[in-house]
Amino acid sequence: METVVSGIRSTGNLHLGNYFGALANFIKMQHENNCYFFIADYHSLTTHPTPADLHGNVRQVLSEYLACGIDPEAATIYLQSDVHEVAELYLLLNMIAYVGELERTTTFKEKVRLQPDNVNAGLLTYPVLMAADIIIHKASRVPVGKDQEPHLEMTRKFARRFNNMYSVEYFPEPEAYNFGKELVKIPGLDGSGKMGKSEGNGIYLTDDEKTIRKKVMAAVTDTGPVEKYQELSEPVKNLFTIMKFVSRPDTIEYFMEKYNLCQIRYGDLKKQLAEDLNIFVEPLRKRIMEISADEEYLRKVVKDGADKARESASRTVREVREIIGFRPF
Ligand code: TYM
Repeated sequence: METVVSGIRSTGNLHLGNYFGALANFIKMQHENNCYFFIADYHSLTTHPTPADLHGNVRQVLSEYLACGIDPEAATIYLQSDVHEVAELYLLLNMIAYVGELERTTTFKEKVRLQPDNVNAGLLTYPVLMAADIIIHKASRVPVGKDQEPHLEMTRKFARRFNNMYSVEYFPEPEAYNFGKELVKIPGLDGSGKMGKSEGNGIYLTDDEKTIRKKVMAAVTDTGPVEKYQELSEPVKNLFTIMKFVSRPDTIEYFMEKYNLCQIRYGDLKKQLAEDLNIFVEPLRKRIMEISADEEYLRKVVKDGADKARESASRTVREVREIIGFRPF
């Protein structure tokens, strides 16, 4: 039995990347392991949401987690901001995190490029808060998508540094985890890069049939293969990658063969993909609506989750304080 931690920022609705990169793996693990899943609402403050948006997003993402199958009887599901101990561990870890290494993080450099007018210190120390989230439960496995690999690398570094500095074997070094062994990157529909909230290139779990069809039919492709067994261009490869997650193997084989024989019509491929995506998303969309209407259930889940998460987090922070030398007189 391992301790597993993962989380998703509450900056918008969940898309297929979040689902297949993190959530699906977590759900598979929740009955056999000691699992913690949280909504990273402190992290979402780097984008300066209004109070109403912050609350609305948290509520929405919580409903989405539950609709996807996170079972609050099996896993501990909570809001990051309900566990104040996370903020204390974040402060303590900031003392052993160096500005140089934070500035060199690829995700930070990317943010600086994308939002030069809002390079706040929270963005710089984002990996420190993430490390606190993970090691506060002494987790060994972290189901995440490929883009989070650099953050896990830093988490291991901080855990190791803490252990070395205080000559203890206290924190385990957690690993990014995916059931299929390889960490996944779900591509977007715009031809390049990953599906993301800020990229506006995604299929959301709340998208209805019409929206899905519209998005998929507008997806970037190319002008079609001109010779047999031609290598796939990136945009077309991306469509096949998404298919792998939602379509049947024989469907994929059928279109692959058409491609290899230069007989493919991308319109047909897209129609099929849109249909398969809708079959996947529709039951989730309905369940999300049901759950988000159940105020009492949501309130209970959040309260129970906070109690359970705080039990584990406060134990760790108490022991860390002792190790560091904050001792009672
Ligand atoms: P966030 O909200 O950006 O993404 C949440 C999870 O979804 C995965 N993901 C993807 N996986 C595959 N393909 C994609 N296109 C794709 N897009 C997103 C991410 O890899 C992630 O697993 N920093 C985290 C939130 C966080 C966290 C943590 C996660 C805060 N503390 C501690 C794990 C443990 C984040 O920004 O996630």
